[in-house]
Amino acid sequence: MMVNTVVNNSITLNSSKRNSVFTDFLKLKWRSSKEPKINLRQRLPNTVDDIERDWVKHNALRTAFEGDFKAPVGRLLEAGGLEVLDIGTGAGFWTNEMASQFPLSHFTGIDLDKNVLPTSLLSRNVVYQRIDLIELPLPYENDSFDYIFIRSMLDTLPDSMWDSILKELIRIMKKGAYIECVEAYENLFDAGPSMRLLNQLIQQSLQHPPQSPTTPLITNTTNNTNANNCISSSSNYNTEERNPWPNRLANMTQLKNMHIYHTHTPIGIHGHTVGTLLLEFWERTIKSFQREWITNKLITEKDLVSTIKSMRNEVDEYKTYMSWYSVVAQKKGYDGPILRFDDVDEYDRVYTTIIA
Ligand SMILES: C[S@@+](CC[C@H](N)C(=O)[O-])C[C@H]1O[C@@H](n2cnc3c(N)ncnc32)[C@H](O)[C@@H]1O
Repeated sequence: MMVNTVVNNSITLNSSKRNSVFTDFLKLKWRSSKEPKINLRQRLPNTVDDIERDWVKHNALRTAFEGDFKAPVGRLLEAGGLEVLDIGTGAGFWTNEMASQFPLSHFTGIDLDKNVLPTSLLSRNVVYQRIDLIELPLPYENDSFDYIFIRSMLDTLPDSMWDSILKELIRIMKKGAYIECVEAYENLFDAGPSMRLLNQLIQQSLQHPPQSPTTPLITNTTNNTNANNCISSSSNYNTEERNPWPNRLANMTQLKNMHIYHTHTPIGIHGHTVGTLLLEFWERTIKSFQREWITNKLITEKDLVSTIKSMRNEVDEYKTYMSWYSVVAQKKGYDGPILRFDDVDEYDRVYTTIIA
């Protein structure tokens, strides 16, 4: 059976459903874990520097991926009534942008750090909640969300925690809902010695608690061409392999239709807008870790200054770039009618066909 329908964008769709998710959350109140709090370094609150760095990265990614998302949900978001969850929303850059772009759908941004969450809401179709992903189950009913977005989060928690968090996210997804995970690849491509050294320091800081002050020094590689030896001989780092999202999603039997999108983004002025933004992102990332590196004697202040200086020229000389992926999958089990979007007219009315 085929039914032609017209959805008028001026009508708020599914508002009772939308409200119910929010009231369910209020009913549940805050969960206080009986387990002792896990003391993870990444649980430090976001600083202004972190927030500004995320803003720079958000803009670079938006340009590089040619939009805010890759999941096939654009027309559905436009038609309205969708419940969207942004995991680890930070200052809500993505959520706010999406909420104003799609006023008929409803957005929830969650983050551990309540200080980073926006206090003034730019649009009425968005809420922010302070929720810690470590405290499972999440305070949402089964089948609550149509689309879950999660970006730049793999480094924030130990690798071993993500599979149970992912199972929990699948529980709160509706049948047929999409999940999208966006991350950068750890390795840089065509990086010169200074950039390689800085990246290794960053990766070490992300994967390990602050080092002991007795950890041996890493010397400046601008005068030392053997950057990799220098790093590996500096300590016995037990580098934890991160299982990337595509592997994790592929292992979840409740998910199907997995698609991966890649984008390769130059760093430095040779990469124009994206490149300039990403160079700034790298410099801000370095700035946020530099105190820790110097205090822990991983590098001297003098060496760090000269390494950063040569890195700026090197990225253009070597045409350094990094790569990102967005992986999208759908929850199985939806066997209802499929909505096909045919057109949007000049009055913003969406014309659809329902194929039963
Ligand atoms: C790198 S930021 C990413 C922000 C945002 N997703 C983006 O792409 O712009 C990581 C965010 O994860 C949050 N976070 C870290 N651990 C968390 C946890 N256990 N539960 C919820 N959020 C967490 C941090 O507070 C931070 O805002």
